[in-house]
Amino acid sequence: MIKQELLDAMNDQINYELESSYIYLSMAAYFASMNLDGMAHWMRVQAHEEIIHAMKFFDHIIDRGEKVILKDVKQLKTNWSNPKQVWDNAYEHEQLITSRINNLMSIARKLQDFTSEPLLQWFVNEQIEEEVNTSKISQQMALIKEDSQGLFMLDAQLATRSFPAGSCFDPTAYNVAN
Ligand code: FEO
Repeated sequence: MIKQELLDAMNDQINYELESSYIYLSMAAYFASMNLDGMAHWMRVQAHEEIIHAMKFFDHIIDRGEKVILKDVKQLKTNWSNPKQVWDNAYEHEQLITSRINNLMSIARKLQDFTSEPLLQWFVNEQIEEEVNTSKISQQMALIKEDSQGLFMLDAQLATRSFPAGSCFDPTAYNVAN
């Protein structure tokens, strides 16, 4: 059993994590439209990670004998002024998610829900990486400015990020002809 305030906040967080996946897919589509294939790839991997985050809350709620409530995902931004703005937005988004995770931890502690704390601590730790990844790329984009050679070098570097095994976000993992 999970007390209602925390259950509601966790169901909201599932929505935020799924929305995060949708946001990163939208960013992947933008980069693909600009032929920045490495950045598009990085965003697809990130979109997969966000589904995993959503499913961690999904399973926790079910394991605790409660019901998952899925909510609408709102219409998202589909265009940006330039590639750097995308990375700035990604970093801002991760800061928002960090504040939401911290709020979940506060509620869990207030309600003395010790069973939820290990899950939430995992997310507290994960958000360090989520922020550092997007912040670092955003700062690298600031250094690159209008240097197209630097942009393509960073794009090539971001193309090396690995998908989790068998990810349906990995275009090499499925054959559209089948
Ligand atoms: Fe699930 Fe990127 O935070």
